[in-house]
Amino acid sequence: MSTGKYLTPIVGGLLSSLLVLGCGEETRTSPDETQTTPYSPPSEQLEEDPAALTPEPTDASSIFLAGSKGVGDPYFPNLGNGGYDVTRYLIQVTWTPSSLTLRGSTTIEAETTDNLSSFNVDLNPNMHVSSVTVNGDAADFTRESSEIIVKPVSNLPAGSEFQARFTYNGEPGMSLLENAPFDGGWFNQLSDTAEDFSCSSCGTYVYGEPSSSMAWHPVNDHPSDRAQFRIEMSVKMDPSQLWNNPDWEFVTNGFLIDKRKAENGMTTWIYETKYPRAPYLTTLAFGSFVEFEEANLGDVQLRHWAQSPPLPVDIFEVDFFGFDYRSMFEVFTDLFGPYPFDTYGYLVINEDLGLALETQTLSIFGYDAFQQPGVHVHELAHQWFGNHITLDNWSEIWLNEGFATYSQFLYEEAVNPDYDIYYAMRNVVSAFEDEEQLLNKVPPGDPGPEDLFSASVYFRGALTLHALRIEIGDEVFFASLRKYVEDFGGKNVTTSDFIETVEGVSGEDLEDFFNRWLYDLEMPTLPLASN
Ligand code: ARG
Ligand code: ZN
Repeated sequence: MSTGKYLTPIVGGLLSSLLVLGCGEETRTSPDETQTTPYSPPSEQLEEDPAALTPEPTDASSIFLAGSKGVGDPYFPNLGNGGYDVTRYLIQVTWTPSSLTLRGSTTIEAETTDNLSSFNVDLNPNMHVSSVTVNGDAADFTRESSEIIVKPVSNLPAGSEFQARFTYNGEPGMSLLENAPFDGGWFNQLSDTAEDFSCSSCGTYVYGEPSSSMAWHPVNDHPSDRAQFRIEMSVKMDPSQLWNNPDWEFVTNGFLIDKRKAENGMTTWIYETKYPRAPYLTTLAFGSFVEFEEANLGDVQLRHWAQSPPLPVDIFEVDFFGFDYRSMFEVFTDLFGPYPFDTYGYLVINEDLGLALETQTLSIFGYDAFQQPGVHVHELAHQWFGNHITLDNWSEIWLNEGFATYSQFLYEEAVNPDYDIYYAMRNVVSAFEDEEQLLNKVPPGDPGPEDLFSASVYFRGALTLHALRIEIGDEVFFASLRKYVEDFGGKNVTTSDFIETVEGVSGEDLEDFFNRWLYDLEMPTLPLASN
């Protein structure tokens, strides 16, 4: 199974020593004393007029509270923040490879969803914040673990737009996240030999699920808050310095808007995206990356990057590893509807990372994962399931991984006339019977944070979809998939959204079916194919 390797956990990030666990508990919200003056009757009235004891009805619009420090994710309570919704991040930073430090500013353009007297933003504690402004005015702020708590000079009424600008610097490392299944964040490739002056693999890259962004910029780090990004990255390109080769490139999601070289050797790359994305779907890389353009696929621009040398330049030849993006796009467009973005590509790191991640429109691959065609199919399918349709919270992970995994089987079924998907799915069941009943240990619909990426989420998730297909028949099954993409593309979803869609299309009550497949510990028996 091509994804077998891909599930291998990465062993320790280079900077995992920066990971500091444990965050202080804090009450979620507390009224701001400066704001509300509850009605208190004059004392002499108290005995005479009991009605005076009833407080006046409070006008909700006059109460301003502290925004919560999390959005209430059941698995990762400190991810994200309540009370506002980010529209856009404007990140303007300078990376200094020789000292491994990042400095600059991030401006968050947001809209309040509550009356806020203060609000929180996520950022690793090792990133030092020097100043915060809100709507141009200096704001007070405090730090607590991976939270910045910002107290603007004026309250922010619900439904109003605001801009918060953070100036900061530090040595970015791994996201500080309790119960994280894997390290995610900012990775630096360091030379292991003192003589390696060219250091062609001394690059930097970012990825991580469920979190990587708060390792390097202030963020509402939860998939429920999708936003646009503009990233301006500057690096001083000094050929006399180790790790500062003038040919090195910076790449991140979206389109390169501008690349400027200043007199002092500073090069600035500006990237913008057109589609909102969950923060964990940001990737970036700086180093000896080479761009490969391929012919457009209809309206979709293909743009791939590889860290090279020593990757051979012909890795993009179809014959080399046997994957064919044209057919993948065709099959998925047919099954799920048009590709939801305007560009796609892969970013290959010259390191065996043991994984790939579906970072939006630019999937990042370790060199080992890159060589597995099934992983390419999987990450492309995530652009629909995970990126276009995004999780409401992390307990819903099977909606990403189960769907992307089943898509690998659907792709094989579409391109290979001899392929028997019913046989293949029964094989998945028997393969796991030999592996200590792995699929009976974790319910894919609620795996828990440590098992977020367990085999059950991927394979029992895929089997759930296959069993559903057998239950309701091909026609209704594929119509349901298309309707699900149509109705929930660009939105955040829970499993009930999917169940309701399928129930609507099929006219069947499927509650018991989904309960057994997704939430019972014991996996149900895969029914025999009816056709
Ligand atoms: N969403 C990624 C995928 O394509 C999962 C990455 C899991 N992380 C890991 N370190 N294995 O399946
Ligand atoms: Zn996946």
